[in-house]
Amino acid sequence: MDKPSEQLDTLLRETRLFPPAAEFTRQANFSDPSVYDRAAADPEAYWAEQAHFLDWMQPFSQVLDWQPPHARWFHDGRLNAASNCVDRHRTTVRKNKAAIIWEGEPGDTRVLTYEMLGREVDRAAHMLHDMGVRRGDRVVIYLPMIPELPIAMLACAKIGAIHTVVFAGFSSNALRDRIIDAQAKLLITADAGHRRGTLVPLKQNADAAVVDTPIESVLVVNRVGALSAITMVPGRDWAWEERMRAASYAPFAAEAMEAEDVLYILYTSGTTGKPKGIVHSTGGYLVGANTSMRSVFDLKDEDVYFCTADIGWVTGHTYIVYGPLSAGATVVMYEGAPDFPDRERFWSLIEKYGCTIFYTAPTSIRTFMKWGPQYLKSHDLSSLRLLGTVGEPINPEAWMWYHEHVGARRCPIVDTWWQTETGCAMIASLPGLIATKPGSATRAVPGIAVDVVDEGGQSVAPGHGGYLVIRKPWPSMLRTIWRDDERFQKTYFGQFPGTYLPGDGAHLDEDQYIWILGRIDDVINVSGHRIGTMEVESALVDHPAVAEAAVIGRAHEVKGQAITAFVTVKEGIETGDELTVELKAHVVSLIGAMARPEEIHFTAELPKTRSAKIMRRLLRDIAEGRALGDTTTLADPTVIESLKVRYQDRE
Ligand code: PRX
Repeated sequence: MDKPSEQLDTLLRETRLFPPAAEFTRQANFSDPSVYDRAAADPEAYWAEQAHFLDWMQPFSQVLDWQPPHARWFHDGRLNAASNCVDRHRTTVRKNKAAIIWEGEPGDTRVLTYEMLGREVDRAAHMLHDMGVRRGDRVVIYLPMIPELPIAMLACAKIGAIHTVVFAGFSSNALRDRIIDAQAKLLITADAGHRRGTLVPLKQNADAAVVDTPIESVLVVNRVGALSAITMVPGRDWAWEERMRAASYAPFAAEAMEAEDVLYILYTSGTTGKPKGIVHSTGGYLVGANTSMRSVFDLKDEDVYFCTADIGWVTGHTYIVYGPLSAGATVVMYEGAPDFPDRERFWSLIEKYGCTIFYTAPTSIRTFMKWGPQYLKSHDLSSLRLLGTVGEPINPEAWMWYHEHVGARRCPIVDTWWQTETGCAMIASLPGLIATKPGSATRAVPGIAVDVVDEGGQSVAPGHGGYLVIRKPWPSMLRTIWRDDERFQKTYFGQFPGTYLPGDGAHLDEDQYIWILGRIDDVINVSGHRIGTMEVESALVDHPAVAEAAVIGRAHEVKGQAITAFVTVKEGIETGDELTVELKAHVVSLIGAMARPEEIHFTAELPKTRSAKIMRRLLRDIAEGRALGDTTTLADPTVIESLKVRYQDRE
C-alpha cells in the first residue's frame, strides 16, 4: 500500500484535542457515552431501536439476515420513504414548518412547508403515474439544485419507482451511460441550470443522451425560462409545469414497500472505466440516514440545517433529502456557486436564514481560506452551533480555520467519513460525547464495527496504519451493484471475506482514533468528487490523436487532488498547447467538467512493468516531486528517468 508519508507525518504531529463543551453535551440527543458499548454488544438491538424512529406500515420481525456478503435488514417490514420524509410530518405541528428553504443562484427564493412539499410530491407522483411510471421502474433525474429535484425523488419513492439522480455537471455522454445501465424509461431534466452566472444547457445535453435508449418520455422543468428556445420532441418531451397542472390534486396512496426494495441507484466511480450503480434499500438506508441526522448532526426541531452539497452526489441524497426530511428538519437548499455574485454568498445565506448547522467539504474550506476571512467578517454567524465536513481528509490547518473563522471556536466540528456505498456517516464524532482532533474523523459511530487491518486482515496495533475495513453489516450498506453482483462481491468483499473493504487507507493512533489517509486504489478524489483514473484514461484514449494515457491524482492545495495525465500520441501527431486544450475538452465532453485534467504531459513512452502494467506509483512520485520509489520492476528504466527530467523542465 502506498503511504502518503508527508501527509501522515503532518497528521501524526497533530496533538490538539477539543473536548465537547459541557453545555453542548447537556443538550445533545446522544449524551450518554454508554451508547457505544451497548451498540457494540448488540448492534442488532441498537439498530432495531433506531428503526423505531421511522413509521412502518408493517412492523418487521427480524432485524438482520446476513448471508455474507448479502444483508437483509428489517426485511419483512414495510414502509414508504416519502411518507416518512413528508407525510408523517403533515399530521403534526410540523405541518406548517419549513421543510425546504430554497434559494436560487439569481436570488429567487421558495419556501416549502411540509404540507406544501407533501402536496407537490403527491401531485408529482400522480403525474409520473399518469406517464406510466410504476413500482420498480427506473427514473433518471438530471436537474439543477431546484426544489423539483427533491420533489421528483420523493415522488418516485412514493410510487416505489427507483430514482437515479445524475449530477447536472455530468456530460450528455455520462448521462447516456447511466440511462442505459439503469434501463430507465423516463428522464426528468430542466431547460437549463444557473451556474456562476452562466447557463448550463441541460435539455440540450439530455437530447443527445436519450437517443437509442429505453427513455420513452422526458419531463422538462422550466427553470430559466428558456422553454421556448429549446426543441421539444412531440410525444416524448413534456413541460413539467403543464403535466403537473393536469395531474390529480388528490393525495397519492403511498406504496407499501418492502424494506429491501430498492430506493435508488447512484452511480459512482471505481477502478474500471465503467461507473458502478450503487444500490440502496428503502428500510435500512432510511434508518441509517435518519439515525445519523439525530446522532452525528444532533438535529433538533429548532435547527436550520444547511448542507452545501449537490443532491447529485450521495451527500445530498442522505443529508439534504432523506436524512433531514425523515427527521423533520428545516433544510436550506442553495442552487448555485459559493462565489456568486460574490464570495460572501454562503455567509449571507447563513445570516439570512439563521442557519444553526453547516455541512460542507474540506475543498470548500480550503477555498474560503485562500480567499481570506474578510468575507465572513461582515456577517452574523452567531446562529451556528455545529459544523460538519465530508468528502476527503481535512488537513489540520483547514480544520483550525473552520473552527476559528466559521465556528468562532464555539461550534463542535463533526468530520464525517463515509461513501456512496455506506449510505450514511460511518466514522464521525458524536458531538456531545467525543473529543475531536483536527484532521481525524475520530471513531466509528455506534453500531458500526470499523477496524484497521494489515494485508492478512489482522487488526493493526494502535500507532500503525493499514486498510480501513468494516467488519459487520450495517443497515444503510449498499446491497449490490446494479446488474453486477459479481463486481459487488469482488470489489468490496473479495479481499477479506465477510468484511467490507471501502478502499481507503487509515492510521490508528494511540487513542484508537482513526486518521483517513485517502484512497488505496486507482480512484482520485478531486474536490471531494470521486473519479476513476481509468475513466479519464478511456476518455483520453478515445481521442484519435492519443495512443496511450496514464492518469494519476497529484496532491493539490485546494482540491485535495488534481488530475494529471501522461499521454503518448500516435505516430506523426504534433503535441503542444493546442492538443492539450483539445484533449482537456474531450475529457469534459465525455465525462464532465469535474474530470478535466489539470495538466497533460506528453511523453514518448509510459513507465511499465515487464507485464505491461503502467506504474502509476512512479508517475505520482514524479508529479509530486518525490524521490522515485522502487524502479527495478520496470521493463525499461530509462523511460522513467527521461520522463522525470522532462517533467522537471516543463516550465
Ligand atoms: O476516500 C474517502 C473520501 O471519499 C470517499 C467516498 O467518496 P464518495 O463515495 O464520493 O462519497 C463522498 C461523500 C460521502 C471515501 O472512500 N472521504 C469521504 N469522507 C471523508 C473522506 N476521507 C476522509 N475524511 C472524510 N471525512
